[in-house]
This record gives sequence, structure tokens and C-alpha cells, in this order.
Amino acid sequence: MTELERAIRRLRRKHTVPRVVYRYLSGRPLDGRAGYPYRHRGPGRLAGWQRQAYRLAVPATAGLALAFPDPSLTAASGTAVAAIWRGRQRLVRRRFHREYIAPTLAALAPAMGLQTGVRLHVDPSLGNLTPRLAKPLSPAEKAARAWYGEHVEPIIRWLPERAQRAAWAVQRKAEPVTSRLAAFRRPVDGDQGPRIELVADTPYLTKDQRHLVSSIIGSKIPVSDLVESWHQIGPRVTATWTVRKRPPARVGVDQVAEYLPRLAEWEFYIGQGAGDRPVTLSLRDDSPHIAVSAGTGAGKSVLAELVAVQVLNRGGRVVILDRKGSHRWALGLAGVDYCTKPAQMHDALVRLAALADERNTLAMHEAEDWDPGPRVLVICEELNATIGQLVNFWAEARGKGDPKRSPAVSALADLLFMGRSAKVNVLAIAQMLTARAIGGPEARENFGIRCLARYTANNWKMLVPEAAMPRASRTLGRWQIVIGGQATETQVAYLTAAEARQLACPRSPETSQVNGLSSPAGDFLTLRQAVDAGVLPWSYEAAKKRLQRRVGEVPEARGKQGNADLYARRDLATWSGKQ
Ligand SMILES: Nc1ncnc2c1ncn2[C@@H]1O[C@H](COP(=O)(O)OP(=O)(O)O)[C@@H](O)[C@H]1O
Ligand SMILES: [Mg+2]
Repeated sequence: MTELERAIRRLRRKHTVPRVVYRYLSGRPLDGRAGYPYRHRGPGRLAGWQRQAYRLAVPATAGLALAFPDPSLTAASGTAVAAIWRGRQRLVRRRFHREYIAPTLAALAPAMGLQTGVRLHVDPSLGNLTPRLAKPLSPAEKAARAWYGEHVEPIIRWLPERAQRAAWAVQRKAEPVTSRLAAFRRPVDGDQGPRIELVADTPYLTKDQRHLVSSIIGSKIPVSDLVESWHQIGPRVTATWTVRKRPPARVGVDQVAEYLPRLAEWEFYIGQGAGDRPVTLSLRDDSPHIAVSAGTGAGKSVLAELVAVQVLNRGGRVVILDRKGSHRWALGLAGVDYCTKPAQMHDALVRLAALADERNTLAMHEAEDWDPGPRVLVICEELNATIGQLVNFWAEARGKGDPKRSPAVSALADLLFMGRSAKVNVLAIAQMLTARAIGGPEARENFGIRCLARYTANNWKMLVPEAAMPRASRTLGRWQIVIGGQATETQVAYLTAAEARQLACPRSPETSQVNGLSSPAGDFLTLRQAVDAGVLPWSYEAAKKRLQRRVGEVPEARGKQGNADLYARRDLATWSGKQ
């Protein structure tokens, strides 16, 4: 037997008919090569079970098609459609890989000093967040898409859309029941969602390397607003980027009404943050004063209105310094002092500083948690311009012996330093709140709560130098509320004028009496009230005469009630005592 004959016999033994049939049916390679696993892919293009399925299914389908030609034609076309759909998806995914993942990996490898062992996963759903995968649309494509959107899509969408709406309606109706079932559900990580994940087979990356990696990811994968986190514990380094969750697009009176009753007197509801969490401020614990800085039309007055309404709702007072009439909702409401003229603003500020001073003085002799009276919120619209007007007003109004600096500007500075214990809070508004406008950098520190919207890098740096600047949003009413260097993105609740009045004055929204300011002891009195209350020992006529002739230490008017001047009880007492 020659060598050749022996080889042929061996081959015959290897490729007997039953063996080949067995290999065919069991999904092994027909020539009997080893090393092709059944459950995994191995070196071949398909796993063993997939090969088996094809080998059995193709002849079976062919047989069926011959036996029943009509139904099999239908089935074949259905299968073809499914195959085309899947092929298209695969093409898109491959293109995504070629355009984004492969080049990003190529850029990352040298940055991390690794040639192998870097894996990057980008969720396919993130592909939908990238505005357009490859090139911009040609005019013809644009026209075809527009035509499709106008004429075809509405028809295709008609039924699914209605079905979806119905499903939502059912869900809403079932909410009271299903929310109770939530107790039985397994808790899910609230952070789950589309993500980019990078795994590198290296135990540690330096800060510079991490920085480089994140800037590469940020510039090569066009998804905006990613939140980054690094895990360096264990043998591998893992980095994850998730899409930042946004606050809801609109928040209104419903939410305000829902959250307001749950808050303490010094806490204020501002709006909804990311993940639909309520955002509140505390004028006692966070900071007594609020700085609001945003471009025109960004909603500064709306934010001030929201805080003011809550103060009024709890029986507090609001003083508005505003030349432009941004707060028409507050006109004539009880508890509101609306100052539009520089003279009025001047008086109001001086009076407020006196009130705060008096409250602080009284507090000296009281217990730690003594309540000095209703909260007073001072809203300064367009602070930069207002200060200028107050200075000009004082330059004209001031007499010979008067101080050079405007008492109103000094009063405002005093309020900033005294406000917390006296429960007098300032809400300062400006398009660009400079340190000079609010009385120097130290005064700025009194504004522990800073609200910014539609900011520029410059504006942000000036007001919040301690925190990194998030991207400014173009959504109306979307603010960054910064407390202690921590910025919280918030959709501020929007109230219409009618809703604001209703909330501010739940009992009598139509009240139109403007009250003078007073402290708990009723410490501001008109001359007649002082005589009636026995603070002054003279008759009304006599007191008036003494005032006109300026006999003794006559009191300064601190404000007005109707046409009559208001005087501080303390001043009146000194005046009467001296006589
Ligand atoms: N949080 C908000 N939600 C919805 N719309 C808002 C919001 N804030 C402001 N707006 C809209 O923007 C307009 C301008 O707001 P406004 O407070 O007058 O701006 P600014 O005082 O900054 O010039 C409002 O009339 C309102 O229509
Ligand atoms: Mg305004």
C-alpha cells in the first residue's frame, strides 16, 4: 500500500456519509475540523447553534414553499422586510462606530499611554442625541424630508399617536393604585439611562490623563451636557458619562400650591430641579439676602414675584423699589409698599433700616428665638440704576448740615448687614450685578443665595467665582440657583398676575389698602394716633403747633399713612420726655 492509498483511506474513513450527515445536522464544520464551539462563536462567523438553525431551516422552508406556494410568498416578503430593517440598523451602527467610536479610541489610546485594553461603549440611543451623524442634508434631501413630514407622517402616526395618548390617560387614571404597588418593585438606580462607558486595563490614570480623556470624549462624541464620573478602584479604570437630567420645561401655580404648605416660614419654594425634585431656599439657614442677575426678559421679575407672594401669603410685608412697573400684580395689595419715585424709595429705605435697627435693639433683651414680627422683603429692581437715582436724589435734596453720602444708600448697606436677625431680607435684581453696585465685595458676601440665568462667562465669574460655570440654558425660566458654591439647575415656577394675587392674599385678593410698616408693638404712629394712645401728653392741636415751631427734639417723619406722616414711637417718647 502506497502512502497515497493510505491517505485516501484515512480520508474515506473521516468522511463517511453518516459522519457528514451528522456534522451537517449538529452544526459542526462539514470537513470535521475541531475547535468550533456550539454555544459561542469561536473562530467561525456563526456559533454552532446558529449554523445548525440555518442548515435545518433553509431546506425546511424550501420544502414548505414548494408545498404551499401562496402563503409562503407572503411569509417570504415579511421576512425580507424584517431583514432589510435589521440590515439598515446594522449599517447605522457600523457607521456610528466608524465615525465616532473608532477615531475616539484612536485618540484615547496615546492619551492613556495604552495601545490595547481600552474599551469604549457608547449606547446606541445616544446616537439619536447627536443631531446628525455624518454630513449636512442636501437641499433635495431636505425637501423630501419636509414633504414626508407633512404628507406621510401624519397619516402613519394617526393611530399610534391616539393609542399612545389613550395609554397615557389610562396610566394617569390608574396612578393612585399603581403608585401603591411601587412598594413591591425592585428599586432601580435613578442614574440609569443612556451612557458612554470607557474601560481601560490600567490600574490608575493621573489627573492630567483623565482631563485629557474627558476632553477627547467631549470633543469627539457630539452629545452635549454629559456628567462624568471616574472609578479607579480595582484593577481597571472605568469612566462613565451620562446625559444630564433636565428639570421639567414648565412649572406653575399647581406646584407652588402643592409645596407651599409644607415649608417653614423662612423657606421658599422656587421651582423644580433635575429629576423633578423641588428646589427651596432658606432665608434663615442659607442666606438672608438674594442676588438675582440675568439678562432682560429672562424672568427676574417673575422670580422676585414668586418669593414676594410667599412672604405675603404668610402675613409678611413686601417693599418694592421699582421705576418700571414690573410688579403690577402687587399694586394695591395689602402688605405691599410700592415705591416708584426716588423720594419714596429714599424714605422707604431709611425707614426700613430704622425698623431693622429697632428690631435688633429689642432682640437684645429677648430670648434667642424671639420673633421680631412679620418678615419684610425688600425687592430692588435694577439695583445699579436705583442706586444712581438715590444718589442723584440726595445730591439735590440734601440740606446744609446733611451727610454727604445718601442716607438711603447707607441704609441699604446697613440692611444687608443686619437683615438676618431682624427678618428684613433684600432681593437685589440687576442685569449685571457688579460688586460696586451692591456696596463692595464684602457686601456681596451677604448675598449667599445667587440666582443666574442667561449669563455670560463674565457675569458668572463676577458673581459666582467659586463654582464652575454650567452651560447657560435657553429655556425660559431656567435658572441656576447657587448656594454655597453649589449650583442647582431649576425651572422657576411662573405665576400669572391673577394667580399671584390669589396666593398673596388668599382671603381678600381685592384689598386695596396700603399699610404703613409697623413692628409688633405698633411702633410707627401718626401724630393723631400718638395723642390718642397717650404717647404724647398734649392735645392734638398743641402737638401739631409744637411740631411746626420745632419745639424741643422734634421727631423725624419715617413714612406716610395716607396723607399723615408716621413717626417712630421711640422718637415721640423722647420728644415728650424732654418737655
Ligand atoms: N419661570 C418662567 N416660566 C415661564 N415663563 C417665564 C418664566 N419667567 C419668565 N417668563 C416669561 O418671560 C417674561 C419676562 O419675564 P420678566 O420677569 O418680566 O423678565 P425680566 O424681569 O428679567 O426682564 C414673562 O412675562 C414670562 O412670560
Ligand atoms: Mg423685570
